[in-house]
Amino acid sequence: MRKKIVAGNWKMNLDLEGGRKLATGICEKISENPLETLPGKPEVVFFPPYVFLTEVVKAAEGTSGVSAGSQNIHQLEKGAYTGEVAAPMVKSCGATHTLVGHSERRAYFHEDNALLAKKVEQALNHGLIPVYCCGEVLPEREAGKHFEVVKEQIVNGLFWLKQEAFEKVIIAYEPVWAIGTGVTASPEQAQEMHAFIRKVVGEKYGLQTAEHVSILYGGSCNAQNARELFSQPDVDGGLIGGASLKAPDFLAIIQSF
Ligand code: 13P
Repeated sequence: MRKKIVAGNWKMNLDLEGGRKLATGICEKISENPLETLPGKPEVVFFPPYVFLTEVVKAAEGTSGVSAGSQNIHQLEKGAYTGEVAAPMVKSCGATHTLVGHSERRAYFHEDNALLAKKVEQALNHGLIPVYCCGEVLPEREAGKHFEVVKEQIVNGLFWLKQEAFEKVIIAYEPVWAIGTGVTASPEQAQEMHAFIRKVVGEKYGLQTAEHVSILYGGSCNAQNARELFSQPDVDGGLIGGASLKAPDFLAIIQSF
């Protein structure tokens, strides 16, 4: 069975104290009601800003099934790149995962699939699980190009990987028009794209690998709509933005399988 995962992308929000409180509060509740006793037995990953990654890792220590990752990494291992952060650095802070190719990185920092392929490589080289984000913008969906766009993102960002390496990757489908807008993809739209992604993975790596890869949905997923989204056969959890900043909402989402 593939893993169910609920991940919280905190983006550029909170401060050290706020981040610590949020992670600690969620972990306390999870300890009272352990993840392995919940339907779906989900894993939880926090994606805080780099500067409080260490503290969030500490807050999560001892809570089974909870870990933390970075929202981004640089495509190189080290060097004279002022202001940047490399995979071995976040690994040394205790991170287990990293997001790669979030649509905000693609849009505002001009990260393309070729660059993201290098970031995926860096992550895997340093023992981080990449959560590779894909998704179309509204005009692409309106033009009926959403499958083509997502396929291209996945093929160019990931399909150069050998089978064994690919099997470590998590995919997050986040339609850009649903991110932070309050407009969620309908469960049918999410399922349709997730099934498509799984088919594309199957054509490249075989059915077994396709069945094994976790595909998360992101985009205005919240405590009210998570259950319906997660009940879709190819939706293995969520990458949550806004609702991951409120402990009760995030906890409700974790319990939505
Ligand atoms: P929202 O849940 O705020 O729409 O953000 C989704 C997202 O971008 C998660 O990475």
